[in-house]
Formats: sequence, C-alpha cells, structure tokens
Amino acid sequence: MKVFVAGATGRVGRELVGDLVVAGHEVVAGSRHPEETDWPTGVTPCAIDFHDDESAMAADLKGCDAVCFVAGSRGKDLLQTDAFGAVKLMRAAKSVGANRFVMLSSIFAMQSERWAEEPSLQNITDYNIAKFFADEYLANISGLEWTIVQPTLLKEEPGTGRIELNPEHDGSNPIPDVAAVLAGAIDHPNTIGKVIMMRSGGTPIDEALSEV
Ligand SMILES: NC(=O)c1ccc[n+]([C@@H]2O[C@H](COP(=O)([O-])OP(=O)(O)OC[C@H]3O[C@@H](n4cnc5c(N)ncnc54)[C@H](OP(=O)(O)O)[C@@H]3O)[C@@H](O)[C@H]2O)c1
Repeated sequence: MKVFVAGATGRVGRELVGDLVVAGHEVVAGSRHPEETDWPTGVTPCAIDFHDDESAMAADLKGCDAVCFVAGSRGKDLLQTDAFGAVKLMRAAKSVGANRFVMLSSIFAMQSERWAEEPSLQNITDYNIAKFFADEYLANISGLEWTIVQPTLLKEEPGTGRIELNPEHDGSNPIPDVAAVLAGAIDHPNTIGKVIMMRSGGTPIDEALSEV
C-alpha cells in the first residue's frame, strides 16, 4: 500500500515509517518539517500543517491507500492539531479515496468515566477530550475503514515485541511496540472497525493482532 504517515517526524512516527518500509509499503512522511529528517530510501517527505485547510490536505493524500495519524501537539494545540487536525485529515482522506485510516489514540480515550480513575490520565483531561472527539468522529462519522490504537504511557525503551490487549488499568509501552502495532494493523484487515487497547505484555504482536 501507499501509506501517508501524519506526524512522521515524531517519536512514534519515525519508528512507524521504518516498520512500514520494512513491511514493503510505500510511505509518504508528513509533518511541518519533514525535510529535516534522513528518511529510508523510498520515503517521500511531505510538508503538512494541521492549520491548513482540508483541500490542501486532500492534495497531499492523493494516490495514497491508507493514512496513519500519529501526530500530536503535546498539549499545546489540542483543538487545532489533535482534535480538528485529525478530523480534517479524515475528511481529506475520504474525499480522495484513501479509505484505510489507523489512528494513534490513548488508553480509555472513548471512556470518559475512566479518566479520573487512572493515575496517568488524571491530569490530562483536555488531551483526553481532544482524543475522545477525534476517535468518535473516526469511528462513527468518517465513513473510513478505521482502526484505533489506544496505548498507555509511551516509553523510550527497546521494544519487546509483546503486548497485552484490553488491559484493566494503565501501564506503559515501549515506543517501538506501539509503532509495530500501528504498522501491523495496516496488514491485518481483521482490525478494521476495532479499538485496540494495549500495554506491554506477554503476547507476540502478530498473534495479538490476529486475535483482535
Ligand atoms: N506520550 C504518551 O505517553 C502517549 C500515550 C498514548 C498516546 N500518545 C499519543 O501518541 C502521539 C505521538 O507521540 P510522540 O511522542 O511520537 O509525539 P511527538 O514526538 O511529539 O510527535 C508529534 C508529531 O506531530 C507533528 N505535528 C505536531 N503539530 C503539527 C502540526 N500542526 N501540523 C503537522 N504536524 C504536526 C510533529 O511534527 P512537526 O513538529 O515536524 O510538525 C511530530 O511529527 C501523541 O501525540 C499522543 O497523541 C502519547
């Protein structure tokens, strides 16, 4: 597939681009400053800003089969990037027929009753709200073939290749494992229409994705 990665220069994005290339996909790497990164051979950088209008995004997505949204503003621009930026990208994707959409979200983003319970979520309510609306739009309004990946806390540590699905409580995930789940979702059509809640665990990622 030709896959557009939005947020390609981020911590998850870089890992994801590499994984998609290894899996044999053609990748377009989107962010505001994609030219500042040394990409693997065959990756096409594409400047995109979530403050742009939808038609500009649609032009960037033309010819792509799938989109992965792994961008985020680290709490600084939640409405325009994490929430409406994601929605504009979904609408642009739909308009050009890039129908497969994989969203990096956050654990329990669609279950607001959990936000006060989990230590890692208690102080990021505005962020949770932004992700809630982006996830709800994707699942219920976009008309896309969606998968939503909801990890717990991201950690800069080596991947284990193993995860736990549907954890009862928060925890953490090495960033390479989250990227592997996002890339794997593209190659597992059974994940379409599913929310994948995850943290580090004991099940090999490919096995876990096959069971979703
Ligand atoms: N931190 C956690 O523990 C945690 C847990 C669960 C889920 N998540 C989710 O995982 C996401 C990715 O995490 P990360 O650590 O990889 O993030 P990151 O390193 O901060 O990367 C964010 C990416 O978004 C891009 N971006 C930001 N604003 C943009 C804009 N206006 N237009 C276009 N691109 C923009 C950045 O690129 P440029 O600056 O080049 O534009 C960058 O590529 C987070 O945003 C969050 O939603 C995080």
